[in-house]
Amino acid sequence: MKILLTGGLGYIGSHTAVEVINSGNEAIIIDNLSNSKIEVLDKIEKITGRRPKFYQDDVCDISALKKLFAENPDIFAVIHFAGFKAVGESCKEPLKYYKNNLLSTLNLLEVMESYQCKNFIFSSSATVYAVSEIMPLEEDFPLGASNPYGRTKLFNEEILKDYQSAHPDFNVILLRYFNPIGAHESGLLGEDPNGIPNNLMPYICKVATGELDHLNIFGNDYKTKDGTGVRDYIHIMDLANGHIKALEKMTKENVGLKIYNLGTGTGYSVLDIVNTFNKVNGNLVKYEFTSRRPGDIAECYASPSKAEKELGFKTTKSLEDMCKSSYQYQKQNKK
Ligand code: NAD
Ligand code: UFG
Repeated sequence: MKILLTGGLGYIGSHTAVEVINSGNEAIIIDNLSNSKIEVLDKIEKITGRRPKFYQDDVCDISALKKLFAENPDIFAVIHFAGFKAVGESCKEPLKYYKNNLLSTLNLLEVMESYQCKNFIFSSSATVYAVSEIMPLEEDFPLGASNPYGRTKLFNEEILKDYQSAHPDFNVILLRYFNPIGAHESGLLGEDPNGIPNNLMPYICKVATGELDHLNIFGNDYKTKDGTGVRDYIHIMDLANGHIKALEKMTKENVGLKIYNLGTGTGYSVLDIVNTFNKVNGNLVKYEFTSRRPGDIAECYASPSKAEKELGFKTTKSLEDMCKSSYQYQKQNKK
């Protein structure tokens, strides 16, 4: 089957492309390289032995999408990763976020409709959940995003729900990712943000290689087991596999609209991450406690039960695996 991955050269898309190919499917990628590099295509080929057909185009450019579909009229499903994802930037430049993250989806739906392509998997996020005292988060918990980026995810979910309810034979799976970290075992693919990273694991990796001096831990006064923030970190290859499970479901049945958390169900604190990283990679990461980061919450972790029950999704990688592979990638790709 032909699977179109928008944003397929990015962090999650590239690892998923590997799994799409390894599961016997053909991957087609559209990416405008706004947050990725063309070399990733070579790396996907090196790992899988197959080079995905690649379109260096913008999903917001509907004529480019029409051309892509005209050349590949038999695409079975679209996995829509393309989008901007920096929370801070979305607060400063909300229109950039609304335009890219919403128009890309609208264009895809329009062109998919004209080619009778009826399967859509969307990269949603744990950020769509309203702040909750109750953990783990289940798919039917109240929603409510607190920044423009999060709202683009929430609005996309609503658009897809409305579209699906108007087209009952159209299948949508909304995958709400928790915190993906780690890298492909080859060390060829991984997370490679430009500039100083915002997210924990890329920051830790740069401290470990000496590119940054120390980690600032944002708050040690949360009501958590050690006072630092707790999140549900999921290995990128486990997350990638969740997409294969969603695709499999779509080949077997008319799924309608389904929503699944992709997380492990276990919350780890910032100190758990730093200590595990130092244990498996050598004592490389120094840290200091600083004040809380505005907008952060104490705890956030998934209930993965629904994905397990309905998709057969099960994570297999440990926190040690996540810390080891993240650092391996960073060492191999140090700029
Ligand atoms: P990423 O930035 O590494 O990948 C996104 C890719 O999309 C990049 O290669 C970028 O060049 C491309 N892109 C962006 N806009 C485009 C457009 N208009 N046309 C074509 N290509 C475009 O991000 P990622 O971490 O791989 O995230 C993938 C998706 O998952 C995003 O939608 C993100 O919001 C969502 N998500 C990510 C996380 C996370 O922690 N990484 C968590 C929850 C949800
Ligand atoms: N943290 C630090 N120091 C840092 C970076 C992070 O202490 O330098 C802490 C944060 O305070 C938080 C934890 O590490 O407690 C994780 O922070 P990240 O920035 O790595 O991840 P978040 O959970 O804040 O957010 C991420 C994505 C969001 C997405 C969310 C849920 O950045 O876009 O996961 O999927 F919405």
